[in-house]
Amino acid sequence: MAGKNVVWHHHKVGRADRSLNKSQKPCLLWFTGLSGSGKSTVANALDVALHERGYHTFLLDGDNVRHGLCKDLGFSDTDRVENIRRIGEVSKLFADAGLIVLSAFISPFASDRRLVRNLFPAGEFIEVFMDTPLETCEERDPKGLYRKARSGEIKSFTGIDSPYEAPARPDIRLDSSTMSVDDCVETLIEYLLGRGLIS
Ligand code: PPS
Repeated sequence: MAGKNVVWHHHKVGRADRSLNKSQKPCLLWFTGLSGSGKSTVANALDVALHERGYHTFLLDGDNVRHGLCKDLGFSDTDRVENIRRIGEVSKLFADAGLIVLSAFISPFASDRRLVRNLFPAGEFIEVFMDTPLETCEERDPKGLYRKARSGEIKSFTGIDSPYEAPARPDIRLDSSTMSVDDCVETLIEYLLGRGLIS
């Protein structure tokens, strides 16, 4: 908690001023979903597509952030809450710098996702639910983690012995078992264009 002697400074150059390219508005696309649901793959592909079109973006994702900023955190409920809190704040800083931010984290708890949403002005937090069935994620098992979770080698694995609270009303719902990566990217770009976040 900030101490009582810590005072917020209001900067003269604001979020909109920092948007280098006036054909984009700062926002956060928050990818949530099970391990193996396609969060990182789709977020990376969208990042490439936006970058190629000249938009200024930044991508944050689970495994990478856990190598640095959140390397002290594990997968207990308390640590996951702190993980998402930190990432929400970092995402906000990047958006304040004028960027389109793509954050891909399991973020299993609805209350944590809501806290991040509340850091952003209305319309600038876009919840993207990778609604890929658990069976598909488990079949893919790209890192062999579901197998380890089923055998008890890993404890508290999301979807197996740790909960995932699916978003009730995501802004965008994608299922990578029925949609190609290109379809997902097109859906997201259409959304950004439709909301005037890119032009
Ligand atoms: S969380 O729940 O949002 O704090 O998780 P996140 O920071 O996104 O990290 C998820 C990646 O960590 C790997 N991993 C686990 N995931 C879930 N549960 C357990 N116990 C676990 N242990 C390691 C896993 O590779 C996740 O990566 P993705 O990209 O989601 O598959």
